[in-house]
Amino acid sequence: MKLAILGSGRGSNFMAIAKAIEEGKLDATIELVISDKPDAMILTHASSLGIKAFAVPSADYPDRKTHEEAILNHLESHEVDLVVLAGYMRILTPYFIEKYRDRIINIHPSLLPSFKGLHAQKQALEYGVKVSGATVHLVNEEVDAGKILAQRCVPVFETDTVETLSKRILTVEHELLPEVLMKISMGEIQLPRRSK
Ligand code: GAR
Repeated sequence: MKLAILGSGRGSNFMAIAKAIEEGKLDATIELVISDKPDAMILTHASSLGIKAFAVPSADYPDRKTHEEAILNHLESHEVDLVVLAGYMRILTPYFIEKYRDRIINIHPSLLPSFKGLHAQKQALEYGVKVSGATVHLVNEEVDAGKILAQRCVPVFETDTVETLSKRILTVEHELLPEVLMKISMGEIQLPRRSK
């Protein structure tokens, strides 16, 4: 299973995937890591592991479509099977989604369908939920609304801050995302068949 990982920041979920591969738990290869942010730590981490990693900055392109076309060209030339959004903070257009229909997965720091979009942990705290967690889902045209593949919950405490809750959720993200990829690679999670 050939993976491409897209991320905009720290890259800890990328590192969790790379570790699962390194430990022989996940039968996959990370073909390339792409960031929209040239200074993202995910690129530094990937390069330090010898994985091809580079930025495709949106500012270098006149519009979203040409930016996405540039990314898609890289994915196609590497014959990627699955695109993993690991902290990729841009919304993909229907054009991109159609090219990799049912082959793009995202990790989100809440129990969807609650708390879609940005600052999910802050939303959860403000709402006062007593349980939150992480969701891995397929990406479709609607933000954070594709088919849910797996979820894991964590408790929310009265004393939590955005930082403490985010950290607790991140710990389960690092388990959940590699586990979902393992299940996909072993056929335990079956992605919808492609019509073409
Ligand atoms: C993770 O918490 C991920 O769930 C979240 O960004 C963080 C990326 O961390 N993604 C979203 O909020 C997407 N809407 P990482 O760069 O250390 O993997």
